[in-house]
Amino acid sequence: MEQFVMRGGEPLFGEVEIGGAKNAALAILAAAAMTDDTVVIDNLPDVRDINVMLTALEGIGAHIERPEAHRVIINASCITTLNVDYEYIKKIRASYYLLGALLGKFKRAEVALPGGCAIGSRPIDLHLKGFRALGAKVDVSYGLISAEAKKLFGAHIYLDKVSVGATINILMAATLAEGRTVIENAAKEPHVVDVANFLNSMGANIRGAGTDVIRITGVPRLHGTEYSVIPDQIEAGTFMFAAAATHGDIVVRNVIPKHLEATTVKLLETGCEIIEYDDSVRVVSTDTVLQPTSVTTLPYPGFPTDMQPQMTVVLGLSNGVSTVTESIWENRFKYTGELARMGAEIRIESNIAIITGVQRYTGAVVSAPDLRAGAALVIAGLAADGITVVDDIHYIQRGYECFEEKLKTLGAKIEKVDNEFDRKKFEVQAS
Ligand code: EPZ
Repeated sequence: MEQFVMRGGEPLFGEVEIGGAKNAALAILAAAAMTDDTVVIDNLPDVRDINVMLTALEGIGAHIERPEAHRVIINASCITTLNVDYEYIKKIRASYYLLGALLGKFKRAEVALPGGCAIGSRPIDLHLKGFRALGAKVDVSYGLISAEAKKLFGAHIYLDKVSVGATINILMAATLAEGRTVIENAAKEPHVVDVANFLNSMGANIRGAGTDVIRITGVPRLHGTEYSVIPDQIEAGTFMFAAAATHGDIVVRNVIPKHLEATTVKLLETGCEIIEYDDSVRVVSTDTVLQPTSVTTLPYPGFPTDMQPQMTVVLGLSNGVSTVTESIWENRFKYTGELARMGAEIRIESNIAIITGVQRYTGAVVSAPDLRAGAALVIAGLAADGITVVDDIHYIQRGYECFEEKLKTLGAKIEKVDNEFDRKKFEVQAS
């Protein structure tokens, strides 16, 4: 089993390059199946969830070429089945995007129902409500969601809760429906805008993405395109928090600073200095006495839930008491038990973490409960005294490309190991 082993206590310095946004790319890959023409996608992150999605597309008959790790050429004119029922596909929640994409194009799709996950039950009722409003018959049975329609018709859809997945899924299906669809209370996340831009580059007619009302005028067909995925704001934010926690000074390159505003504001409140450039952000925490603050996760442009564990790790080292309120996922504080083993003082009351800052974390063997919490534990390990081992790093590899390599370029003492001997060797060399 692979683990990350690290010796903390070194500030991070230098520059790090951010890759394409995983959560945008997952939907864009599914949407690439909506045309018979060839689609070229650049700035694709080379992470596990993306590779699962590509395997699923190949599994249903799409032709996939990967001339380089970050570029893929997809031709879906030869799709042979609309049944996406593979064991591995249940492991990525974003498999539900194949439903919207295939329903839009073929008016029929059957996709294995993704289960709940470590951060919450993750319902998809709003996706299904949207498909039904467009005229599809939707059924969930035997572990599969099936959706079918003779024709899809534009509709006025109000989302009872802001949902990234439902907004994108409805957007995809409505793109090839007849007439006009309006999605109210739509998600405004940068990846929603990116998917809309991608579809528009294929000939879709989508207006208002990035606001809470999206208007889609259906078109009969989509054509090929060449598109570059936006930078990953969560990967960028993760490195920004790593700089803050280790009292480092780093430049995070290839970002859209506007997408990072909530993170930037919270880091400023903790006392870090942030300097924004056109497509990079510098975080300086070298002499910072980290200050406590409070934060609530909210849909964009609020503070992202996917940055909540990383923020908690920083606040755990602050000079006072902070609160972190999780308003999106009901189960996203599991990692705080692991962090407590590193010396953090955190009390959970309902959906609020009350964090009393400590002077330092100490190394321990901890386990990543999910993707972002796993990254947060690595940050804690880099800030901690002594050796930290993070288990279950397959979660981290789902969404961070070459995480340990990028950290190493910033001076981190970290290694990926898969046996006791290499782990011990690292520990000896690092001490
Ligand atoms: C996306 O999940 C991201 N995943 C998540 O990132 C992220 O945490 C989340 O958006 C919120 O920003 C992908 O993009 C693949 P939602 P998604 O639908 O779309 C409720 C990561 O670490 N809801 O916006 O599944 C739901 O319970 C992952 O990269 C319903 O009630 O999230 C939640 O409370 C983890 N019914 C809220 O809406 C529905 O039908 C927001 O969920 C759908 C959602």
